[in-house]
Amino acid sequence: MQLSNLKPLGALALVLLAAAPLCAGAPPAADEVTRRANALLTQMTLDEKIGQLNQLFVFGTPPQDAVIRSGSIGSLLFVSDPAVINRLQHAAVEGSRLHIPILFGFDVIHGWRTIFPVPIAMAASWDPLMVEQAQTVAAREAYSVGIRWTFAPMVDIARDPRWGRIVEGAGEDPFLGSAMARAQVRGFQGPLTGGPDHLLACVKHFAAYGAGDGGRDYDSVFLSDDSLRNVYLEPYRAAVEAGAASVMSAYMDLNGVPATGNRFLMHDVLRGDWGFQGFVVSDAFAVKSLTTHGFSRDDADAAFRALTAGVDMDMGGRSYLNKLAALVQGGRIPMATLDDSVRRILEAKIRVGLFENAYVDEARAKQVLAAPEHRQVARHAAARSAVLLRNEGSLLPLDKTKLSSIAVIGPLADSRIDTTGSWTFANNASETVTVLEGIRNGVPSGVRVEYARGGEIRRTIRGPFDRGPQTAPATPAQLDEEIKQAVELARRSDVAVLALGELQNMSGEAASRATLDLPGRQEQLLEAVVATGKPVVLVLINGRPLDLTWASGHVPAILEAWYPGAQGGNAVADLLFGDANPGGKLPFSWPRSSGQIPIYYAHNLTQDPETRPGFTSRYWDQLSSPLYPFGFGLSYSKFAFSNLSLSRPQVPLGQEFEASVDVENTGSRVGDEVVQLYIHQRAGSTSRPVRELKGFERVALAPGEKKTVRFTLDKRKLSFWSTPEKKWVQEPEAFDLWIGDDSTAALHTSFQVTE
Ligand code: BGC
Repeated sequence: MQLSNLKPLGALALVLLAAAPLCAGAPPAADEVTRRANALLTQMTLDEKIGQLNQLFVFGTPPQDAVIRSGSIGSLLFVSDPAVINRLQHAAVEGSRLHIPILFGFDVIHGWRTIFPVPIAMAASWDPLMVEQAQTVAAREAYSVGIRWTFAPMVDIARDPRWGRIVEGAGEDPFLGSAMARAQVRGFQGPLTGGPDHLLACVKHFAAYGAGDGGRDYDSVFLSDDSLRNVYLEPYRAAVEAGAASVMSAYMDLNGVPATGNRFLMHDVLRGDWGFQGFVVSDAFAVKSLTTHGFSRDDADAAFRALTAGVDMDMGGRSYLNKLAALVQGGRIPMATLDDSVRRILEAKIRVGLFENAYVDEARAKQVLAAPEHRQVARHAAARSAVLLRNEGSLLPLDKTKLSSIAVIGPLADSRIDTTGSWTFANNASETVTVLEGIRNGVPSGVRVEYARGGEIRRTIRGPFDRGPQTAPATPAQLDEEIKQAVELARRSDVAVLALGELQNMSGEAASRATLDLPGRQEQLLEAVVATGKPVVLVLINGRPLDLTWASGHVPAILEAWYPGAQGGNAVADLLFGDANPGGKLPFSWPRSSGQIPIYYAHNLTQDPETRPGFTSRYWDQLSSPLYPFGFGLSYSKFAFSNLSLSRPQVPLGQEFEASVDVENTGSRVGDEVVQLYIHQRAGSTSRPVRELKGFERVALAPGEKKTVRFTLDKRKLSFWSTPEKKWVQEPEAFDLWIGDDSTAALHTSFQVTE
């Protein structure tokens, strides 16, 4: 299949049309929704109200119909069998006193049956429209089995890649993160008319979960007001502004107060500053855990503190179910507070159309899940998400008409589960195409493709989600033998493609790590294969940056494929053989080693900037610049930027202006460039970061084609949260502006914001 970068929307437009809601119309008016919710609320008993705030996990046997009929469960998560959903829903709608349907939720993170690249990969596409399309398909598939609510998008900024959950978000930058947050909300929710094929989105984990001490999952976060407001909160704000129906509170302490009991976050910021009208759910068992934190005295206190801080629904822990009645009856929680939470949940159920469309059409589900066009979207998404990090001597793309043999090597080259990554529950693993299979599919029949695993990798310490018996690790002698076989295979092949990186359980929740080395003996394997003198392509399968210090100087071609999803192998083959041209860009600064962490491009200037001679590195044993900068990524083509101009060099406070640049494809292949705009405010009430991304656009260009790309800079983009002023400010100051292909862009101009 030819995946033309020139027409990214051609075939996909059809998919989107097919995925459009069947009865699209205007979303119901807010006051009509509230009127309907209130009409129910006035009829509810205290226990029925509390039931709506109670969400339970289904691990194994679902609840009995009698429990559902009692109205004590408002939402269930982890039920995915349409027949079971129908049975439970009949019990709720026909059997409960007020006929209120159950809201079925699930973590639909990067696909349901059709698995897309992991979120960090999709962020690397710098293509919000593609991301929206992928999540539209995910919503359509999940809706078809009865799910109405996804616990996504995760929009936590991550500036410490030791944190395992960096894979679930969009990386280090608030501007890119906000664009990805909006795109995902749009994809999941659509216009939220109550028609089919869309889900309620849930923005998580509120807030700043990604900044845990040492990159350790669940650990405390201590953040300045400046970082919190200008960096970490921004993507949540963007998602809320895009209409996200719900928010999930986070697990960790934020500046000493657990996020799930944090009134500042949920009451002051979320509802106060941002006017959020939807509902807040806790993370799993996070209400109960307030006592474990050493914050609440006991479970009743936990329920009190979470509800009054702003958590409407208790996920999994039953603290609300067991404790709220006494708290309300004893007068500690006013009925009006409880009613506000119940109303928000009823409103969400009304908005997503549950009262009209509670049941699953099981026959339709089968059709939707089997839709071949969904796989096409996944293949396209994986190709657009890949980042080409190195391509010495234009080794890539490989000319498959001139090759007679390819060695495919590595523990990740033929592993289905590691091709899709974490948070996959409903896919059919046999549909996943590994790198080995993709290469086999992609070459003419005469080309010999052989595989050697080259050893195994595994977590040093088992995680809480690792299930099943632990097999004995390979012995050193077995590993030596596997490496030897891989080297021999490389010797008798024209080219070696190594798929190395991390297993899916090395990245994600409870999957933080202390180092960034290639796990196991993969580095040794890589060095041994390179030592054969054969051309080597390193394909990375992972969800975080790894230590590529040696590889970046010795391996001629490095392609970051991430966990590319069910069509990942086909997409990798499309890229390796030039049927697609890489155009993704890094959504984080790639460190040289874990000692550089945290590392991000938007740091402040300080007294001795790294541009000053003699001060170019902050370390004496290693450069303090990243190995690859934020926004970096190569293409098989080349691009040139020129004619940077501003519609006006002076702009009064509050007004907007335009920056434009010409970008030209000076290479010989069709390709994409991501045009990136950065600014720097030279002085102000606080020092401002050296650069901040304020615009980007991924453009497709034919060889020799030139396009003018325009960006609008408005008050919002020129404002920031000033800690001394305690508010958002725009200041009349001088600014630098750069446009180029990564965060080190050289093309520069300046402008002045005037009084
Ligand atoms: C995770 C959430 C997830 C929830 C439900 C928690 O452990 O932190 O991201 O949505 O489980 O699966």
